[in-house]
Amino acid sequence: MDPYPPLILPSLLAADWSQVGHEVKRAEHAGAKWLHLDVMDGVFVDNISFGPQMVQTVRKNTGLYLDVHLMIHRADHYLERFIKAGANNITIHVEANYDTSVTDTLKRIRAAGLHAGIALHPHTPFSAALPYVQDIDLLLVMTVVPGFGGQPFMEKETMPKLAEARDHRDAQGLKFHLEVDGGIYPNTAPIAKRHGANLFVCGTSSFGPADMNQAMSELAASVA
Ligand code: DX5
Ligand code: ZN
Repeated sequence: MDPYPPLILPSLLAADWSQVGHEVKRAEHAGAKWLHLDVMDGVFVDNISFGPQMVQTVRKNTGLYLDVHLMIHRADHYLERFIKAGANNITIHVEANYDTSVTDTLKRIRAAGLHAGIALHPHTPFSAALPYVQDIDLLLVMTVVPGFGGQPFMEKETMPKLAEARDHRDAQGLKFHLEVDGGIYPNTAPIAKRHGANLFVCGTSSFGPADMNQAMSELAASVA
């Protein structure tokens, strides 16, 4: 069996927030198994989105796997609130500030029974992830500068790094998913797949079109 089956993860950032419960159901009916939730603090990134209360609201409306992407400083300080809110995976950025440390935060996420991920900004080299590769279930290679949906896929800057991460993981017998996030469409997802990705975060390309079922089918077919 493929240890890394391809999955399309709709990103709630691109949903209609006036009807979040309905949007979550729309994603479910369109075949999503995981949902991606983008938390932004206005300091680590130049935008503010939502916090644990939104994660909890989504959790109340679905049994889907919730992949929470923290684009915030001091994720360790806020961690318990996201765990309590019902996250299944929590991904933290290596470039962010911590009261404790990245390693300590990853350990706490796993000790709570969740999956743990680290994320790399498009300009952060794979070597920055090396100290943590034993402690993660997921490595997120950002394919846009984090903060906003609807930006173009940064192929040149990020695909060599993704392939490097895949090669290192497989050569060392490590196990973690490789996720891409930003500018993923049916024409860019296959490029990311060729370089090692199996989790494809899709905001604009999934929630954007009126027919989400068709959009999700096209995305899934592009990486099948
Ligand atoms: C960007 C977020 C993404 C965002 C992607 O900072 O991390 O998850 O929702 O949006 P699209 O798919 O529109 O590029
Ligand atoms: Zn994200």
